[in-house]
Amino acid sequence: MRQSSLVVVANRLPIDDSVAPDGACEWRRSPGGLVSALHPLLRHTPATWVGWAGGTGPAPALPDVDGVRMHTVALTADDLRDHYEGFANATLWPLYHDSVEQPEYHRRWWEAYQRVNQRFAEATADVAEPGAVVWVQDYHLQLVPGLLRELRPDLRIGFFLHVPFPPPELFMQLPRRAELLRGMLGADLVGFQRSQAAHNFAQLVAKVLDVPADDRRIVVDDRVVRIGAFPVSIDTVELAALATRPDVAERAARLRHDLGSPEQVILSVDRMDYTKGIEQRLKAYSELIADGHVKVRDTVLVQVAVPSRERVGQYQILRERVEREVGRINGEFGRVGEPAIHYLTQPFDRVELAALYRVADVMAVTPLRDGMNLVAKEYVAARVHDTGALLLSEFAGAAAELPQAYLVNPHDLEGLKQGLLAALRADPEDLGARMRAMRAHLHRHDIRAWARSYLAALDDDGSLLTRMGAAG
Ligand code: ADP
Ligand code: G6P
Repeated sequence: MRQSSLVVVANRLPIDDSVAPDGACEWRRSPGGLVSALHPLLRHTPATWVGWAGGTGPAPALPDVDGVRMHTVALTADDLRDHYEGFANATLWPLYHDSVEQPEYHRRWWEAYQRVNQRFAEATADVAEPGAVVWVQDYHLQLVPGLLRELRPDLRIGFFLHVPFPPPELFMQLPRRAELLRGMLGADLVGFQRSQAAHNFAQLVAKVLDVPADDRRIVVDDRVVRIGAFPVSIDTVELAALATRPDVAERAARLRHDLGSPEQVILSVDRMDYTKGIEQRLKAYSELIADGHVKVRDTVLVQVAVPSRERVGQYQILRERVEREVGRINGEFGRVGEPAIHYLTQPFDRVELAALYRVADVMAVTPLRDGMNLVAKEYVAARVHDTGALLLSEFAGAAAELPQAYLVNPHDLEGLKQGLLAALRADPEDLGARMRAMRAHLHRHDIRAWARSYLAALDDDGSLLTRMGAAG
């Protein structure tokens, strides 16, 4: 077994098997913030990524992706149902996102979560060279740090949670709360998107495990576990470069023409997820049309909603409701060849996404709760001419970093409508000043800065950073 000095462990690998139009199996980049954040970073770094390739059955042998080794962990049909769709995405995901949907608790799901976490820990132990740095990602694998430490005490283990970490009132619902906290404490460094999340974690450790904890360090079993906030970011240089490519500019011009050359284009790009506030946004837009504030001929909404976690009941219900609402709005307000909403459920490649960002006069990012939201940052990075307005939910982690956006509370329909109108009617000079400030922030706080600050905190002697040209 080949071993690496840096191992990233995430439920999902950065590539996904999908079927090409000619029926052949092809590999493409998986949509989602975690992959978008880590993929550019590891390019050309000798590392191994341990993860699941989607699907069930034996683990496929995958080629390296940009120099990163893919080490696949297999999930059975039962694991998929009870670990991925169950405990990860029907218990933890809703609970961690303010319980905007009701989390479900089933003992069988917990057993699967333990079993799959054990499998990931063993796979990681196999591919980590002595003294390696291991970076475990996200809510699917919260037990891995503890399990891995038992197998390989020589490793330096980091854990990063990409989603929010809830306040004690919510987390205390979890039947297996103590085990989950103990699992995370197996790491040397536990990172969150926001300092509030680190605070919630420290409070919970003190309350549930009766271990003294502050917002920076916890001493457990004679080890120091550091905690902190490390807001994740994007490859701003890559996106800006993409957005300025002549073929992307042409693609954007064609898109605007195909949309009927409206005066203004509003864009939203989400995974189809109930945390993203898609229904609230559609309602706000349709009320603005009904009130006469927005004319469909002048202003169109492009809603990209790529299906996600499609076998989970709450996601199926959401998709049906969104599609019914899009149909209703287009039926009521559209005309032949002139829909009010252009609704797309396909995954797009980076070129197409950059062209969409270029076309958007207003980018509406209005989740009910979101750990960070990279789409908001991608839009800003792509606006190389300092034009365009970002409408952003106060409940996205990105809001703390981008206060120059039009900030809205997506639960407040009137506020959402006013925010959207303000963004549509904004003065170009004001928009330019806001966009410049946001772009300057992202320029300094890009994905490399994120990795550098996290890994510097994890990597006491600095040896890893020296090896990782990409983060240095
Ligand atoms: P989440 O992680 O909850 O999906 P983020 O906004 O943080 O939300 O990250 C979403 C990532 O997935 C972004 O990098 C975005 O570009 C990508 N993405 C979203 N929709 C699509 C799509 N239709 N095709 C390709 N990539 C997409
Ligand atoms: C969010 C999560 C990631 C996840 C992604 C896509 O970004 O934080 O861990 O990979 O959504 O979701 P999926 O269920 O398709 O992996």
